[in-house]
Amino acid sequence: MTRSKVTVVGAGNVGATAAQRIFDKGYADVVLVDIVDGLPQGKALDILESGPVSGSDASIVGTNSYEETAGSDVVVITSGIARKPGMSRDDLLLTNMKIVTSVVNEVVAQSPDTVLMPVTNPLDAMAQRAHQVSGFPKNRVVGMAGILDTARFRTFLAMELNVSVESIDAWVLGGHGDSMVPVVGSTLVGGQPVSKLIPIDRLDAIVKRTQDGGAEIVNFLKTGSAYYAPSAAIVQMVESILFDKKQALPCTAYLEGEYGIDGLFVGVPVKLGSNGVEEVIEFELTDDESAALKRSADAVRELVEVMDNAGG
Ligand code: APR
Repeated sequence: MTRSKVTVVGAGNVGATAAQRIFDKGYADVVLVDIVDGLPQGKALDILESGPVSGSDASIVGTNSYEETAGSDVVVITSGIARKPGMSRDDLLLTNMKIVTSVVNEVVAQSPDTVLMPVTNPLDAMAQRAHQVSGFPKNRVVGMAGILDTARFRTFLAMELNVSVESIDAWVLGGHGDSMVPVVGSTLVGGQPVSKLIPIDRLDAIVKRTQDGGAEIVNFLKTGSAYYAPSAAIVQMVESILFDKKQALPCTAYLEGEYGIDGLFVGVPVKLGSNGVEEVIEFELTDDESAALKRSADAVRELVEVMDNAGG
C-alpha cells in the first residue's frame, strides 16, 4: 500500500492532536511543521514511538522547514495564536493573517496540487486568505469549522434527549463565530424533526450554547482553546478527501452565488472528495435561517475587508 501524505502546520494543541489521530489510523505519513525549534521534532518522535504499541507503521516527522512537506495530499493549517478568556476569534485576525499568509506561500511552493485545509481562526477569513495567497482553484481550499460546531450541537441535543449522538442529523452553517447558524429546521432525531421533541425555549438555549461552545471551553482552560473535538473534525475531513468518500459535510467553502452569497468563504454543506469541495449542496432554508446565514456572511465580509485594508 502506498500511504498518503498529510502535512499539519502548527504543532500546538490542535495540530499535534490531529497529527496523532491521523498517525494512529496508519493510512497516511504525517509531516508536522512548527516555527518553534524542537517542538515538532519532539512531538513527532514521541508520536512515532507510540506506533509499536498502537500498531501504526506510518511515519511521522517534525520539522521547522517545508522541504519534507513536498507532495502532500492534504495540508492542514493550524499555525497561529489561539484565544484566551475574553477574546473573540476576531481578535486574532491580523496576527493570524500574517502567519497564514507566510505558511501558505511555503506550503504551496512544495505541494502545488494539494488540498489546503485552514483551521486557524478566525476561520472563514483565514480560508479566504489562504485561497487568495495560494491562487488555488476554489475547490482545493476548504476550512474546518462546521463539523466541529455541528458536533457540539449534536452533543448537546443528545444530552437533552438521552439518545445516541449518531441518531442526530444536524447542520451548523455560516461563519465560525457568534453568528453561526444551527439549522434547527433540518435537524432530525431518529428521523423526527427536533422541534417536535424539544420545547422551543430549551432549543433556543441549546442553539446559544452551541454558538458559545468554543468560549465555554476557553473559559475552562484559560490558557488556550479547544482541540480534541477540533482535531476529530479535521480527521473526518482528511478521510473524506484521501478516500474520496464524497461525504456531505458542513465545511467552509468559497461561494459564488450559492445561498445568495458571492465571493466569500462561509460554512455550507459540501460534498468532500479527492478533489476537495466537489459540490456546494444547497439546502432549503426557512426565511429566518436564510436571513441568519446572510447576517453571518456579512460578519465574515467585515473581517475580510479589515484584512484587505491591512494589506500584507
Ligand atoms: N509557522 C509555523 N507554526 C507557527 C507559526 C508559523 N509562522 N506561528 C505560530 N506557529 C505555531 C506555534 O508555535 C504553536 O505551536 O502554531 C502553534 C499553535 O498552537 P497553539 O498555540 O497550541 O494553538 P491551538 O490551540 O493549536 O490553535 C491553533 O487553531 O482552532 C484554531 O483558534 C485556534 O487559531 C488557533 C489555531
